[in-house]
Amino acid sequence: MNIVLIGYMGSGKSAVGSSLAKILGVKFLDLDAEIEKEVGMTIPNIFDKKCEIYFRKKEKAILFDLLKQHNKSVIATGGGTPCYGTIMQELAEKTNVSTIYLKASLDTLTKRLAPEKENRPLIAHLETEVELNDFIRKHLFERNFYYFQSENSVVVDNKTIQTIVEEIIADLF
Ligand code: S3P
Repeated sequence: MNIVLIGYMGSGKSAVGSSLAKILGVKFLDLDAEIEKEVGMTIPNIFDKKCEIYFRKKEKAILFDLLKQHNKSVIATGGGTPCYGTIMQELAEKTNVSTIYLKASLDTLTKRLAPEKENRPLIAHLETEVELNDFIRKHLFERNFYYFQSENSVVVDNKTIQTIVEEIIADLF
């Protein structure tokens, strides 16, 4: 089984994913890191020097390549991965994939993302916490349509990584 973690930027996909993979004894794959490795550029540089459409095409191709290459893994996707084209449908059709939405509230996301927006091209330009909060509110509203198509979801607000991992394992096994 490949466990595919889905959720907005800052929802903890990478931290939860690496811990979950360690406990399950399977490989952890971070989609953003795989894209950076294959393209040979950082995510901000890809957005800047190539374009977002180039990034989205790579993101989809690399995700489905990883799912062909691996049968037991935890994959942390990027916040926008499930929100383009038919990715959620295609993931739902795969028998070796289980999708889990890490659901974080607007307040949690704003607090977490305010100090670490520089490496995230979609929000790096937002100057104040109010602007960031406004942006996330609208963006999350659009993206929830896709996120809610996940097979399982876990609320992550005010929980430790260990608790979230335990909840995921309880849902899956
Ligand atoms: C994006 C999220 C980022 C990264 C890129 C675009 C998005 O990943 O893929 O900056 O569209 O939400 P994280 O969710 O790991 O920050």
